[in-house]
Amino acid sequence: MSSTPFPIQDYALLDEQECDKRIIAAKQKLGKHCIILGHHYQRNEVFKHADITGDSLKLSREAAESDAEYIVFCGVHFMAEVADILSRPEQIAILPDMAAGCSMADMANRVKVDKCWAELSQVIDVDAQVTPITYINSAADLKAFCGEHDGIVCTSSNAQKILQWSFDRKEKVLFFPDQHLGRNTGFQMGIPLEHMVTWDFSKPMGGLTEQQIKDAKIILWKGYCSVHQAFQPEHVDDFLEKYPDTHVISHPEASFEVCQKSEFIGSTENILKIVKEAEPNTRWLVGTELNLVNRLNEECKDQGKEVHFMAPTLSMCSTMFRTDPQHLAWVLENLAAGHIVNRVAVAEQDAVPAKKSLDNMLLAS
Ligand code: 13P
Ligand code: SF4
Repeated sequence: MSSTPFPIQDYALLDEQECDKRIIAAKQKLGKHCIILGHHYQRNEVFKHADITGDSLKLSREAAESDAEYIVFCGVHFMAEVADILSRPEQIAILPDMAAGCSMADMANRVKVDKCWAELSQVIDVDAQVTPITYINSAADLKAFCGEHDGIVCTSSNAQKILQWSFDRKEKVLFFPDQHLGRNTGFQMGIPLEHMVTWDFSKPMGGLTEQQIKDAKIILWKGYCSVHQAFQPEHVDDFLEKYPDTHVISHPEASFEVCQKSEFIGSTENILKIVKEAEPNTRWLVGTELNLVNRLNEECKDQGKEVHFMAPTLSMCSTMFRTDPQHLAWVLENLAAGHIVNRVAVAEQDAVPAKKSLDNMLLAS
């Protein structure tokens, strides 16, 4: 056993084949002590090594139920935080590249959300009237905020159930950080657009009037995903003009206008399920991340299906892309040699209330 961790620099120039060999050997050595979870947006070179693949909800459940000592999360930082919070204290969550964040998650932070809550409390009785919901794409201290205020976490696959859970308790919701998931889901549940207001966190009182706040059912944080922002309604129109028989399916992080033009709206796991289970020889236009769409197209080719990326310019999630085979080989070989590198550990003061809001979600969905 080496006494110091192997440095990442030793891995930077390894080619994919060499990484593959070393990843497989380290996995074999670690056996049941290690599980690799892979999000659907991971590139193929990493995705193929995952023991379990899925969307945020499925992978959270896997992390909560796994017995493995090491949970290596091929995804982004908030996902590894959730794995740490939901797993037992002796389990260790690892993110192969610490720079794999989520730009949408970064659009809300504890200072801004505390300020929003304080400003809202000048107009309404927040404790009696408002349930805070944080999309799982958020830092642990925002999940803690929700745990401290009788709130809850949601993902793209359970957002309707979580909004219903919230409305069964209180009349209003503060939803952060993704405005689109909140708006698309609220609208699907029959809430008119005029009862969903957008909280602009750069303005006093969110840029809203007292009356708008009093009348709102859902107060939507003005955050968005830059990857899904790339999809535009005219991309759907142009494609349908050329191929009118196309089925359109989008992730709910896409804009309201794009989702309104989509036949289906679903999480990454649901998109895969719907397209894979569809009739053979069908054509699909998909509004979500490129790696998922390319892989789905390959997998569906033998059924005569065509799966197209919605935007004319190719855009992938650059932070998901940070996890490469070199980083995966690095963390696994270190674990196999008894060294823990890139551990994600949430401080107890956040982990305890954050777990409460995550447990609320797991129970409600
Ligand atoms: P899913 O939960 O649908 O996998 O979405 C996660 C995500 O980050 C989408 O951008
Ligand atoms: Fe975050 Fe968007 Fe990447 Fe999902 S696709 S991880 S929301 S930046």
